[in-house]
Amino acid sequence: MRRVAAVVVSALLVTGCAARTPLAPDASGEEIYQAICAACHGADLRGEIGPPLGPGSDAAAMTDEFYRVTITRGLGRMPSYGGTLSDEQVDRVIRYLRERQKEG
Ligand code: HEC
Repeated sequence: MRRVAAVVVSALLVTGCAARTPLAPDASGEEIYQAICAACHGADLRGEIGPPLGPGSDAAAMTDEFYRVTITRGLGRMPSYGGTLSDEQVDRVIRYLRERQKEG
């Protein structure tokens, strides 16, 4: 419980310098999303600087492979996170997005 609180607090503190976010290796997909991605894609996935990623978005129809490449190499104004996130963390954040997209 205390660890979860620590992750939430650090997620709040690091918004704005996302690329240097210190993430626990076993951070959940949701923790990774909120710590790194939410700053641009919105805590509710509705998009801000970046496009929406939630249910019904164009992104919901894109493949996991496209997500993986986008996250690890970056795309346009989106920075690359291949040096920040492990393959497993990338998989976890993609799974989190897929679960949210199913919620409709
Ligand atoms: C600094 C802002 C920023 C951050 C942080 C960021 N993104 Fe993005 N993201 C963007 C922008 C801008 C685009 C659109 C890029 C383009 O098409 O030129 C994008 C595109 C995407 C796309 C493709 C969707 C589409 O409609 O084009 C996915 C998937 C995505 N981001 C996931 C993530 C994930 C997962 C994270 C966290 C690991 C993340 N992004 C962090 C800005 C960001």
